[in-house]
Amino acid sequence: MQTPIKIVRTIDDLRKQVSAWRAKGETVAMVPTMGALHQGHLSLVQLGQEKADHVVVSIFVNPTQFAPGEDLDAYPRTEAEDCEKLTAIGTDLAFIPSANEIYPEGFSTSVTVGGMTQILCGGTRPTHFDGVSLVVTKLLLACLPDIAIFGEKDYQQLMVIKRFVRDLNIPVQIEGGAIIREKDGLAMSSRNEYMTPKQRAIAPNFAKFLREAIADILDGTPVDAAIAATEQKLLDIGFQSVDYMEMRTVPDLELTTDPSQPARIIAAATIGKSRILDNWPVTDASRP
Ligand code: PAJ
Repeated sequence: MQTPIKIVRTIDDLRKQVSAWRAKGETVAMVPTMGALHQGHLSLVQLGQEKADHVVVSIFVNPTQFAPGEDLDAYPRTEAEDCEKLTAIGTDLAFIPSANEIYPEGFSTSVTVGGMTQILCGGTRPTHFDGVSLVVTKLLLACLPDIAIFGEKDYQQLMVIKRFVRDLNIPVQIEGGAIIREKDGLAMSSRNEYMTPKQRAIAPNFAKFLREAIADILDGTPVDAAIAATEQKLLDIGFQSVDYMEMRTVPDLELTTDPSQPARIIAAATIGKSRILDNWPVTDASRP
């Protein structure tokens, strides 16, 4: 049997372990998560294993990135299963702090990235990226890994993190990992568990329709028309709402109608209790 993954719950213990590795000249990758781990998360761990001698996975359902009324309480918490999955792929260390360890009594500092946090997901969740930026800053400074890996699944999050890491000169290299999908094309997400079987059967059309929109845009359909048609198709098959669907430049996330420059279609839509996020590059590779 494999030795179960080592767990530390305090920043002190995390730093002791990372310092011991550093003293031997070994490198460290960090993969921040909120747990309920699936193959998408594990692929980031595996990328870390390719790039560094040790991988630290943090598991922390960060209260500051949830607004009142969002799913903080309902968010799945599955520490034992998560640790089994991490053990099975040979992860070195899990950092699983309490809320008090991260936000002790009297905590009053914030980290805000201007501009790009108020669009896309930030349009309906205006405080979300402040919470993400704060916790990721704290996790990076607690661990000080050589590299930290985040999924392209949350593309706006990845761009925001790259921005504040650059702006604040945090000495960690930020890497993106490809989106891992179910066989039917739905991007894996801990929140997919909220769907009923009927909703789950409809959900893969989100990815399919986005790819069809990209093919149409590349074939000359104006961006606005392609997006409006895609939104209508989603509503017709049972999505309650399309929160946003936009073509944005990479890495600055500016609106664009020009498919010849690096861009992504980024979208969020709601079905039942699940808000599905996805994005695809505007290139021939995305054609269905
Ligand atoms: P969480 O949703 O648990 O995701 C942790 C990491 O896994 C993120 O970098 C996310 O982009 C990545 N990920 C999720 N689903 C993926 C998929 N299908 N394919 C590839 N990567 C995927 O994102 C967060 O947690 C939090 O906001 C966090 C950064 C940990 C800060 O609290």
